[in-house]
Amino acid sequence: MTDAIDPKFFRRVMGQVPTTVTVVTAMVDDEPQAMVIGSFVSVSLEPPLAGFFCTTGSYSWQQLKQADVLGVNVLGADQIDVSNACMREPAERFDGLDWSIDGGAPRIAGTTAWITLTPNQVIDAGDHEFALCNVTGMEVPDEANEPVIFYGGAYRELAPLPDAD
Ligand SMILES: Cc1cc2nc3c(=O)[nH]c(=O)nc-3n(C[C@H](O)[C@H](O)[C@H](O)COP(=O)(O)O)c2cc1C
Repeated sequence: MTDAIDPKFFRRVMGQVPTTVTVVTAMVDDEPQAMVIGSFVSVSLEPPLAGFFCTTGSYSWQQLKQADVLGVNVLGADQIDVSNACMREPAERFDGLDWSIDGGAPRIAGTTAWITLTPNQVIDAGDHEFALCNVTGMEVPDEANEPVIFYGGAYRELAPLPDAD
């Protein structure tokens, strides 16, 4: 009965499901590529697998798909500007960003976590594809840098719960 689900309503309801904001990167033909991805997910511990969903019509996904190594930059609450930069035209996404190549993929400075992946399988998923990947490297800063959250169509940051008593 999927016909009964209106796409706008689907988006509105799924907007209530908070996500992290990552920038998935790769070097393709010596050029850095980046795509903002909210669907990054941990899949398996043994073997270590993780993945993300990409809309099939995306230019950036067609680029990232060609890479042997992918980088996942989990953005901090102070990195909304990085997310906005990576929503510009593909060729302009790294303009003004502080980045370097680490383990074969573009790493953006100051993130909450840095993960490197190698492609394992691309799985059809409706108008998206799921990029199932092997996790090859992981890093977090010594001092925790809290993530930015995407919720209800807007960027948010975590807030501590009020005391229960
Ligand atoms: C917070 C946020 C999360 C996003 N998550 C995804 C995602 O998980 N999958 C996806 O295909 N697009 C996602 N997008 C949209 C893509 O980043 C955007 O359509 C893409 O970068 C456009 O690049 P292109 O013109 O090269 O296709 C997200 C955008 C934002 C702002």
